[in-house]
Amino acid sequence: MPAGIDDGSRERRSIVLGDDGWSVEIIDQTALPHALVVRRLASLDDVAEAITAMRVRGAPLIGATAAYGLCLALREDPGDAALKQARARLAATRPTAVNLRWALDDMVARLAPLAADARVAGAYARAAEICAEDVAVNRAIGEHGADLIARAWERAGRARPVAVLTHCNAGWLATVDWGTALAAIYVAHERGIPLHVWVDETRPRNQGAALTAWELGQRGIDHTVIVDNAGGHLMQHGRVDLCITGSDRTTATGDVCNKIGTYLKALAARDNRVPFYVALPSTTIDWTIDDGIAAIPIEERDPDEVARVVGRDDDGVIRAVRVMPEGSAAANFAFDVTPARLVDGLITERGVCPASRAGLLGLFPERQA
Ligand code: MRU
Repeated sequence: MPAGIDDGSRERRSIVLGDDGWSVEIIDQTALPHALVVRRLASLDDVAEAITAMRVRGAPLIGATAAYGLCLALREDPGDAALKQARARLAATRPTAVNLRWALDDMVARLAPLAADARVAGAYARAAEICAEDVAVNRAIGEHGADLIARAWERAGRARPVAVLTHCNAGWLATVDWGTALAAIYVAHERGIPLHVWVDETRPRNQGAALTAWELGQRGIDHTVIVDNAGGHLMQHGRVDLCITGSDRTTATGDVCNKIGTYLKALAARDNRVPFYVALPSTTIDWTIDDGIAAIPIEERDPDEVARVVGRDDDGVIRAVRVMPEGSAAANFAFDVTPARLVDGLITERGVCPASRAGLLGLFPERQA
């Protein structure tokens, strides 16, 4: 059974085509965990807003949503200029996750050669394929990741649950289904391996506390939300067997760019000899980049996300409250880069490899220059 929740009427994924056959339904992730709100996107503007405001987020889902953004743009105008403009508009929504550029480039390469009157049908067909491929790829990542969790369980003598630490949300909400880091956890759970997941809250947007905890709760998987700085302490006390995170962009040499704070978790893991794995679909690999720190653009978001915390009060009202002095400056770096040397393995749809050029090329030999 896929990881996505069942809303009672049909299997729910993070993105689906509407019943009208052309608009797109997403789960508005800014409303979780307090409400499950399905939102209809009916135009390029709607899609650009949904990505920028992080109603949809997570590298693979951003790519899939952008593919549908091109579909909606082409319904309005299937001409060359409109295709180019829509591509540029969507590419500018978020800078770091390379899946966005990958999906847009893939769509444009297939659509540009088509006659204008064939483009809308071609766009919807390819967008649906991108979604289907994402689901299959993530399930495969889950199988390979679960093998690592199974080995950790063996190492623990099958005596206690395997403790996995994860950062941000790399679950089915971040992809079309299954997720990447959480796919490994879902498949391990399916196999009957007892688990306990440490969930980093992931300030400032709280994707861990709001989304990962919600996903795990839906699946009945034991978990505990911790503040972002707790991981090192838990590792020092032997309470983490392995870390698994997702990635927004992985270089050809295995550097991993992911949600801010991932790097510090990898440092703590190395210091405590806790294996640190990153789960990613090959659409997240940027084969054009070797040095992640020098070359990956790091999104800087509104400092207000740092200055305020959003939550539900005891009366059920969603409020944003300020947590710092009015006069203080805040900076909001959304991602960081973990150098390949701190990553014990990359979990891809083709298997697990060392975080290195040789490791990646071993799994993806067609990328050999
Ligand atoms: O800013 P976000 O919420 O889009 O960041 C998401 C992450 O950092 C995820 O870990 C990453 O996209 C991998 S998702 C499978």
